[in-house]
Amino acid sequence: MKESKWFKEAIGYQIYPRSFKDSNNDGIGDIRGIISKLDYLSYLGVNLIWIGPIYKSPMDDNGYDVSDFYQIAEEYGTLNDVEELITEAHKRDIKIIFDLILNHTSDEHPWFIESRKSKDNPYRDYYIWQEGKNGGPPTNWASFFGGSCWNFDPQTNMYYMKIFSNKMPDLNWENKKFRDEMKKMIKWWLDKGIDGFRMDAIAHLAKDTSFSDGKVDKGYIYSGEWSKFSNRDELFIYLKELKDDVFSKYDCVTIGEVGGGASTKDALRYSSYKNGSIDMVFTFDHCWENGAFMSEHKKDEEIKTNVISLKKQFAKWQKLYNKSWNPLYWLNHDHPRVISQYGDPINYFNESAKMLAQTLHFMWGTPFIYQGEEIGMTNVDFNRIDQFKDTYIFDYAKDAKKRGLSEDQIINYLRRTSRVNARTPMQWDGSIYAGFSNTKPWIDVIGNYSYINVKNQIYDQNSILNHYRKLIEFRKDSEYKKTIIYGKFKLINMKHPQIFAYLRELDKKIIVLSNFTNEKTQFTIRNYQFRKLIISSYLDSPVINRKSYTLRPFESLVIEVE
Ligand code: GLC
Ligand code: CA
Repeated sequence: MKESKWFKEAIGYQIYPRSFKDSNNDGIGDIRGIISKLDYLSYLGVNLIWIGPIYKSPMDDNGYDVSDFYQIAEEYGTLNDVEELITEAHKRDIKIIFDLILNHTSDEHPWFIESRKSKDNPYRDYYIWQEGKNGGPPTNWASFFGGSCWNFDPQTNMYYMKIFSNKMPDLNWENKKFRDEMKKMIKWWLDKGIDGFRMDAIAHLAKDTSFSDGKVDKGYIYSGEWSKFSNRDELFIYLKELKDDVFSKYDCVTIGEVGGGASTKDALRYSSYKNGSIDMVFTFDHCWENGAFMSEHKKDEEIKTNVISLKKQFAKWQKLYNKSWNPLYWLNHDHPRVISQYGDPINYFNESAKMLAQTLHFMWGTPFIYQGEEIGMTNVDFNRIDQFKDTYIFDYAKDAKKRGLSEDQIINYLRRTSRVNARTPMQWDGSIYAGFSNTKPWIDVIGNYSYINVKNQIYDQNSILNHYRKLIEFRKDSEYKKTIIYGKFKLINMKHPQIFAYLRELDKKIIVLSNFTNEKTQFTIRNYQFRKLIISSYLDSPVINRKSYTLRPFESLVIEVE
């Protein structure tokens, strides 16, 4: 792998362009909006931003459905704006990575428009076409967005594969000519000066080309056999080709989204120092440790963080230390807000947001903050299904109704789990539409913007925002820097049902103790002597020099020990 270490010491920040900042008041976030907030990002201290897709797109899936990789979506701006963004970010020592969508295009991409025309079109083999079977689709494989992963196309009476929406046909990576086109495109962007990519849905590029049926699992929302198009052997050949022909020629970082199905063993195939082709992988393992995912029939009181399980999920990945590099994150644009999931935005807003931040930012890996996380943005307060603007959700809601769920049950479930929670406008200030825009935005603003907003928190030394700034500073420039970035990780008392505790060790020894519940609880530290308190999620944590700590609700202490 590359020698370069810059991404190991970086602090990442994810921007969902549609919802970050609207510069021309059409209700949609845009590139000039991002440029206008670079000073804010500098102030926060981050130095690596991942920008969601901004390519030309009919926006069926907010830009993950690309119709031209070389052009910018009109509503987001122009190529000139993008060039200015790159220059302005670099001026502030901020690196920029883009979303790279290799698994599919939009059905409005010229390749697909050609491909579907006839069986012998030169672009036919850019996509995956199969004959139907017994009057139905070619296989029983399911789509991540519900239903079959095949869509019938009457023009040639065949099915094309689409593991996401019907408007996102899957590309055929077996086709060398097509692969060359993709490599050309990736180079073109790197030559524009961007610093790497988050690689969308990367686990799925290779499919089981024997197209045999899979066994169907019991899950009622996601069903199907993901192994038919996930983490398959051929995929690693394609990735190696991308590395050899493109990535290895640039000082860039590559982070692949491998999702829920990948084991640590799979992960090393992607990103081990020894023979990986990309730098890191994003997995989802820690994202649903409160049982919310399968919770259509549950009441809010039944949703509780399984602290032991959450610890195990993190520890599993922390063990790869020495073998590969790791990204750290609580949420992205596909997940609910972490404070609503594992914290308590009503009773312990500041304490729980700071606790979550501390628990993550002292672990091993490159942290990624998701826009709004740094001010404790919460899940939505929507009370109508049509407010949840997401292609995936409209299909889900139809299906849930068919299965007999009431409108209230569906809305409650969506408020708890939907990815729309992460996609509402960034809350900049208390003015109308949260300072995101002067016009009604494409998606509703959450009502709590009047008090949960950047402006309020900038001036408050004890705010969540300023707490994030401190955590970033520890990692960037402090006596603890080396230990935080390169130290070993070890869970302490893994069986404690309420406290997430771990040790980091290099030239310093740091212990993080985080209470993930709203009850006070005790924790005993053996084998280490207290030296000093580094930071706490409460304002009044005393300097403590004892073996046994009683942590208040959502209290988190980071201490130096010896
Ligand atoms: C990834 C993206 C998600 C998108 C999907 C299809 O999972 O993060 O937002 O819908 O891929 O591109
Ligand atoms: Ca705009």
